[in-house]
Amino acid sequence: MCGIIGYIGKKDTLPVLIQGLRRLEYRGYDSAGIAIINDQKIQRVRSVGKIDTLAEKVKDFDLSGTVGIAHTRWATHGGVTEENAHPHVSLDGKLAICHNGIIENYRELKDELEKKGFTFVSETDTEVLAHLIGSLYSGNLVSSVEAALMRVRGTYGLVVVHADHPDMIVAARMGSPLVIGVGKGEYFVASDATPLLPYTSDMVFLDDGEVAVISRDSFETFSKTHTHVEKEVTTIEWSEAEAQTQGYPHFMIKEIFDQPTVFEDAIRGRYDLEEGTARLSGLNMTDTQMRSVKRVILIACGTASYAGMAGKYAFERLAGIPTEVDVASEFRYRDPIIDSETLVFGISQSGETADTLAALREAKRKGAFVRGIVNVVGSTIARETDGGTYIHAGPELAVASTKAYTNMVAILILYALQFGRLKRLTPATGQRVLKALLEVPHKMNRVLEMREKIKEIARTYKDYHNMYFLGRGINYPIALEGSLKLKEIAYIHSEGYQGGEMKHGPIALLSKDFPVVAIMAKDQLYEKMRSNVEEVRARGARLLLIATEGDESAKSLADDVIYVPETMELLQPLVNTLPLQIFAYEIAVALGRDVDRPRNLAKSVTVE
Ligand code: G6P
Repeated sequence: MCGIIGYIGKKDTLPVLIQGLRRLEYRGYDSAGIAIINDQKIQRVRSVGKIDTLAEKVKDFDLSGTVGIAHTRWATHGGVTEENAHPHVSLDGKLAICHNGIIENYRELKDELEKKGFTFVSETDTEVLAHLIGSLYSGNLVSSVEAALMRVRGTYGLVVVHADHPDMIVAARMGSPLVIGVGKGEYFVASDATPLLPYTSDMVFLDDGEVAVISRDSFETFSKTHTHVEKEVTTIEWSEAEAQTQGYPHFMIKEIFDQPTVFEDAIRGRYDLEEGTARLSGLNMTDTQMRSVKRVILIACGTASYAGMAGKYAFERLAGIPTEVDVASEFRYRDPIIDSETLVFGISQSGETADTLAALREAKRKGAFVRGIVNVVGSTIARETDGGTYIHAGPELAVASTKAYTNMVAILILYALQFGRLKRLTPATGQRVLKALLEVPHKMNRVLEMREKIKEIARTYKDYHNMYFLGRGINYPIALEGSLKLKEIAYIHSEGYQGGEMKHGPIALLSKDFPVVAIMAKDQLYEKMRSNVEEVRARGARLLLIATEGDESAKSLADDVIYVPETMELLQPLVNTLPLQIFAYEIAVALGRDVDRPRNLAKSVTVE
């Protein structure tokens, strides 16, 4: 969703801000803008649409200067218009602000300001903030920001500059992330680390309630009560190159092809083959505490929830612990039964998903062990949970998640193994799982080598309006994920179903115009799935099978077959999902979709 980038230093700030905005594009946005302090004035340029449009427009303005802020907006309050785009300015035009989040009491603040004679040109809550700070300003920018924030209810990650203070950016956070990038004689501030990677790996993550005052040579952080807070500098391991498409036409296909490598990054040093167990050190639980866990709840949204569903099978089979998967937005409001023997994992690529975060806070309040399985280092979920693991997928910039999914599954399997070995698994079973896990990158590569074949097949499915994805057992969450990918990026309606459920309703829709993608892997449910596939076939639906190598009979059953290498059942999500990712990608490309930035979607959904 919305993105922020700010710069203060010795460089010309415009190119830094434009490049920063481009690097924030992946979050999803519909308008953008820039404000730079130039000759003791705020110069502001905004535009609707792509950053390219803004980059063209800025050429007509004198935007030289060494301090500035910029924003990508994803409309919440008010439509997609230039007036609603950030930065917003105070009445005298001297103060500019970019803001992520939602000010809940903005209407009452607006009424109050209107009575005092303030006029508004946008429909946004952010303009209210600009005027509120402006109304409280009498020479001290920091105290006027702090005083304004005392009046505000809601969430914000914000940056403010003022023409009278060309040596300062004021930043504040409450519920919406902000990261300070530490350079030499320069500082950056952004809503996530990605736009800062070309300049620095040293980051400072603001916490809720904190205000930072950033100048060219230093920064200072204060609590809500204006007490000085000492902050730690974290060095991020992500490289600048990882955040590039590296010759691929889209981030998504690059990230699909990243999977064998980042999978190795996820498991490296985290297992003990001799003992047949995993060694994930960040859990912060003693063996006794781990043995006391009677229930696991996996909380997530979107793709991460499907990774959770795959993890459920691993936890139940390997560790024998009853495991539930809950979509975060539901968990919170269903008054979940939680106690001190419940372990809750929040699974999130971004570590910022508002629903997941709120659900984890609820679980914590009720006394569960709350841990995170997160990709983005220093993200809110990573910091608010009492331990957990980074999945090491590297920057994932396509909106539709791929490599984060496989790494989430990998970590869940490792956790299940670690718990299993403390409870009931033999070393030999543990070793068998680990050996199979070590073969996964090779098997992933075998699938990736089939891209051309998958592309050929995919293109013949591009004109359908509906599709079912079927699977059973561990392949059911894979079907759900395959279906989600197709919806997200190709905009084709599809549903994931359990093979066995088809006859209870969904089969009524099948016809020659309603194809089915079925995962019929050689596992314990193979025969059952095969019968379900026969039922589909009998209804004349076009059929694409994902089958196990060597299963020659699949060819006579289906119109199209994609063969995947045989894999231990619990590990199949790590291999069988890949052809479905490529399938959705190739259809989306053939349809001319904006693959990396699909309509209406955001990479990191920071509102509930
Ligand atoms: C958004 C994204 C999805 C993602 C979901 C959860 O909806 O578009 O791709 O799966 O959020 O995101 P998270 O960062 O928590 O994994």
